Amino acid sequence: MAEAGTQAGDLNFIAGREATDMTKSAVTVFICVSCRRPVDGGDEAFDRPGADLASVLRQKFHGSDVAIAEVDCLAVCTRPCTLALSAENKWTYLIGDLEPESHLDEIVATVKSFAASENGIVAWRERPSSFRKGVVARVPPRPSNLEPVEP
Ligand code: FES
Repeated sequence: MAEAGTQAGDLNFIAGREATDMTKSAVTVFICVSCRRPVDGGDEAFDRPGADLASVLRQKFHGSDVAIAEVDCLAVCTRPCTLALSAENKWTYLIGDLEPESHLDEIVATVKSFAASENGIVAWRERPSSFRKGVVARVPPRPSNLEPVEP
């Protein structure tokens, strides 16, 4: 039996990052807070926009069925800023090349469309351009007839 804080759905322990209560949410948006984005077009200066994006999205979706979780890396490090949309019985989308400042409305719309979708697949015509261009991968939902994996 898993110890408190290590149960499936409680990834605070794993990520060591701030997260809203994912166990009570229909959708979780994982946001990489480690992605480095070049500043001023140079190779020397970077910012890390993920934490600010997570904070803004947490406010936008406060009181909703959407949880926001910060993670240290989604393995798409060359395409900052990155996030993943995840929900039970839905396809998971990994999206990169997001500019939190200019794409914020599109990111919010994408999350809402994903949440409203039956299986996680959002119709092409409903995808904002940042979603269309930024998709890195989509992963099918885990079959429900598989045995749970022991940690
Ligand atoms: S550092 Fe952000 S995806 Fe790896």
